[in-house]
Amino acid sequence: MPTRSWPNSMFIDKVAIEIPIVQAAIGGAAVPELAAAVSNAGGLGMLGLGGEMVDAARMAVRKTRALTSRPFGVNVILQWPPDDVFPMFLDEGVSIYSFFWGDCSRFVQRAHRANAIVLHSVGSVDEAKRAADWGVDVIVAQGHEAGGHVRGTVSTMVLLPAVIDAVAPLPVLAAGGIADGRGVAAAFSLGAAGVWVGTRFLAATEASVHPYYRQRVLAATANDTIYTDDLFDIGWPDAPHRTLKNETSELWEKAGRPPTGNRPRQGEVIGSSADGSVMRYGCLTPSADVAGNIEAMSMWAGQGVGLVTREQSAADITRELADEAQRIFSRLAQPG
Ligand SMILES: Cc1cc2nc3c(=O)[nH]c(=O)nc-3n(C[C@H](O)[C@H](O)[C@H](O)COP(=O)(O)O)c2cc1C
Repeated sequence: MPTRSWPNSMFIDKVAIEIPIVQAAIGGAAVPELAAAVSNAGGLGMLGLGGEMVDAARMAVRKTRALTSRPFGVNVILQWPPDDVFPMFLDEGVSIYSFFWGDCSRFVQRAHRANAIVLHSVGSVDEAKRAADWGVDVIVAQGHEAGGHVRGTVSTMVLLPAVIDAVAPLPVLAAGGIADGRGVAAAFSLGAAGVWVGTRFLAATEASVHPYYRQRVLAATANDTIYTDDLFDIGWPDAPHRTLKNETSELWEKAGRPPTGNRPRQGEVIGSSADGSVMRYGCLTPSADVAGNIEAMSMWAGQGVGLVTREQSAADITRELADEAQRIFSRLAQPG
């Protein structure tokens, strides 16, 4: 792998990687094969283990370690308290933790005692300052255009510099809307120390994504997503999210966006997964093994989806993002 220099290298130095591109936690799509492929390409792969049981999470960590000797991370969502999986992660020697949606302070010191690094995703300056006070090592600033669970209420372009100023000298990663090398270069221009990329990696061959969902991602434009507070039943209150517009969002909008309990065709079984029946308005990331009416399911995606047009290997995506950004840096450095 060619050695390239990156501006603002404190993040890559901290986590010992070569390319400051993190494959974001993208729920159940972020399987060992995906995380390992990104890490093997020099970026940082992240397992999406929010809500996972201890044994399944342990298997995912071990499988990833069998596929790569490079650093990778685990992501958990604090609304599904990870108190049972966290000690297992420590036992397994996980060295990079990513937290989202809540207070991770009780885990920070325990992670640091094990010489691990803690990342925390935030959607505002206040939240970033709180996370810095808890002692986290890296802040992920997630803008409103992001896919999946969305913490940000303003765009990445606006949020990122404000968060960087608020928590300096902590490294800050940019999340939301970064889907090609131009976005990577823009994030670095704003002072980011790396990027946290979700939607683009839904197109990676190694991501566990149902073929219909992937096709919808590849065909979608930036206007094809919907951001709502309560379209899908996320599992906790006040959980805004962004998905592709689909049959279910259209039904719900036509009915005037009624609250849960009064939605059209609520309670309808629309498919099945390894965990059982999939209900309309249910929360899952449709993976390759999900059967049924995928069009009606929660197909999380950010507005950057309009830039995602090809299925590629995760390594190709990682390298392409990095190479495009490097070419932009060189061009900007040329006089005239
Ligand atoms: C399919 C999907 C699932 C997601 N699941 C999670 C998750 O489990 N944990 C988490 O911290 N963030 C999750 N997110 C948010 C991402 O980590 C990230 O913030 C977002 O994808 C960045 O914006 P982008 O999609 O424009 O790249 C998810 C996003 C997507 C698209």
